[in-house]
Amino acid sequence: MLTLDISNLRKISRLHGLSPAEINSLEKIRNRKHGFYEILDDKNSIEKIKKFARQNIGRYKHFVVLGIGGSALGALCLQQSLSHIFKPNNLIVVDNIDPVLIKELEETINLKKTLFIVTSKSGTTVETLAQYYYFRKKTDAAKLKPQNHFVFITDPEKGTLREIAKKENITAFEIPENIGGRFSVFTAVGLLPAALIGINIDRLIKGAKRGGKDFFAEQKKLATIQYLLYKKNKSINVIMPYAQKLIRLADWYRQLLAESIGKKFNNKGKQIHVGITPVNALGATDQHSQIQLYNEGPNDKLIIFIEVKNTGKPLKIPAIHKNLTFNKLLQTEKEATAAALTRNNRPNITIKIDSITEETLGELLMFFEGSIAFLGELFDINAYDQPGVELAKQLTKKMLHA
Ligand code: PA5
Repeated sequence: MLTLDISNLRKISRLHGLSPAEINSLEKIRNRKHGFYEILDDKNSIEKIKKFARQNIGRYKHFVVLGIGGSALGALCLQQSLSHIFKPNNLIVVDNIDPVLIKELEETINLKKTLFIVTSKSGTTVETLAQYYYFRKKTDAAKLKPQNHFVFITDPEKGTLREIAKKENITAFEIPENIGGRFSVFTAVGLLPAALIGINIDRLIKGAKRGGKDFFAEQKKLATIQYLLYKKNKSINVIMPYAQKLIRLADWYRQLLAESIGKKFNNKGKQIHVGITPVNALGATDQHSQIQLYNEGPNDKLIIFIEVKNTGKPLKIPAIHKNLTFNKLLQTEKEATAAALTRNNRPNITIKIDSITEETLGELLMFFEGSIAFLGELFDINAYDQPGVELAKQLTKKMLHA
């Protein structure tokens, strides 16, 4: 079960920390219904995904997600969090347009044994269409039937991908209209690639339901802390899991926080330029690269640790200390790092999960989505749009046609 340990906030000076009274002062933020939570009850879509996975696992050597941003990071996060670190599985998530990446991907896969999962909510993102058209030309040249090598995940009605799907009878899963890219991990965007590599999506959904329903109070609390500390000039949030497998979760959260909260206007149309800058870190690795700055540099950050209570069978370390294990060493280093930050008046909190499983990950991801929704309410901004991204998309198109 997920818990939020905020005790260190009370131990530091009022200037940089938060008292329970301050945290409770914002209790009144509203609970709204959100598409990203309601989707968990869409049994038909989930069954469709599971059926597709059953029919296609074993048919292909590689599953390749073509997509970018919110259309890629959810799948990457699920893959990295729930797979063996050193035994690669057969899912590749592209998430870029670097020609070196595309070329080396081409050299790695066998087109005849590849299923491309083309993912784009809008169905018009130039990076994703570029990836699609590139590999589509290759499969056409190899005389492969597109229906056997492509599946789309896109808007139910609009966009280039939906048009192609209709015209060419390519299987296409839907991203519901009311769910934006970075909130789409529990739609086919995250669930289909996950199911294709054998992740139990029923358990993910079960955990996500808990993360949404049972943790409203914690979601609100996290959002309140982020908001109040922002008001105390902590405009940077460092997300620091002490778990190698959660390295991509930090990437996923980075996008969620950055794109949802970084806004020019509030809901009343007033120019406010708000936002929290997310920074990724990994424990214990980044104790040796970033913690010096966090302890002694500008006091402008909230450090959000993620701790996994059960890290598996104790793994003994010979020689250093009697009965020392890697499990204990990692845990102690996290505690010592948090204690040092606290001593230096640096605000830090810890999200604790029992272990890394489908259920706990579902819980954690939904907990974060819910807390971002609350954070949007506190800032009085629209957490679901991304006009800044759209502007760059439009300018790219303009420049390409100039
Ligand atoms: O979160 C978002 O909405 C964005 O990051 C999008 O996911 C990203 O721009 C890709 O857009 P699309 O899914 O429409 O291709």
